[in-house]
Amino acid sequence: MNNAAHLMAREPDPNQMDLNRSLETLLRTRRSIRGFTPQPVPEEVLRKIFELGQLSPSNCNVQPWRTFVASGAVKNRLRDAFIAQIQNQIPGNPDYPYNDRFEDPYRGHQVRCAVALFKEMGIERDDKAGRGRANLRNYEFFDAPHVAFIGMHHQFRETVAIDIGIYLQTIMLAMTAYGIGCCAQGSLRNYPDIVRQEFGISRDISILVGLSFGYEDTNIDANRVRMTRAPLDDNVTFKG
Ligand SMILES: Cc1cc2nc3c(=O)[nH]c(=O)nc-3n(C[C@H](O)[C@H](O)[C@H](O)COP(=O)(O)O)c2cc1C
Repeated sequence: MNNAAHLMAREPDPNQMDLNRSLETLLRTRRSIRGFTPQPVPEEVLRKIFELGQLSPSNCNVQPWRTFVASGAVKNRLRDAFIAQIQNQIPGNPDYPYNDRFEDPYRGHQVRCAVALFKEMGIERDDKAGRGRANLRNYEFFDAPHVAFIGMHHQFRETVAIDIGIYLQTIMLAMTAYGIGCCAQGSLRNYPDIVRQEFGISRDISILVGLSFGYEDTNIDANRVRMTRAPLDDNVTFKG
């Protein structure tokens, strides 16, 4: 039975339809925000979002995410320390090196993503300095008032990282629902020792990803970008 026939075969449940609509709105509203106003997120909203994150499912309910949220002077110290690394050209030493080499079709998506972003930011193809500045924006947390770092025990590998990805999406959708913009950043895994030192985290915890967040600054060029998605059949196979 196709989807439309299935929907017609049952009495529409108004509560279910509200959920359908809310979910679709939420998923279509969330996008990566790369420019923020200085206005901090109120503490109760901050706590609420990360409480909602706790509802994420995980394999055997091990709840492996370990999250470190920096605001105010702590966030500024982290930013300054990161910027110093980049300006001094200190190579990153991520706990999880990013050594995926993308071939098509992945490479095509990757290039289109960069091209779309650079176009909105007014960076030409051969503008190396411009690309460097765009990269630096990652480590300035795009001026966000808050940044979260999400890690897990260093002995965990891919299977547990699935849980971290699910958690990350829960947090991003919760933020979207509360009118808070965010950008997941693999780039923020590059200097994990700085994060561990600032938060007093033991070596047992490895850092997987960062998330800059706050209220969107709609005047920032980078926030005009809208990433598209491949058609369904490129990614999903239905059989039987
Ligand atoms: C795990 C992860 C890591 C990412 N790392 C970065 C990053 O370091 N810098 C950045 O600007 N965007 C980063 N992004 C954002 C992606 O570029 C973005 O999600 C993708 O282009 C789709 O666009 P959308 O989020 O606006 O839908 C990351 C996203 C994810 C999920």
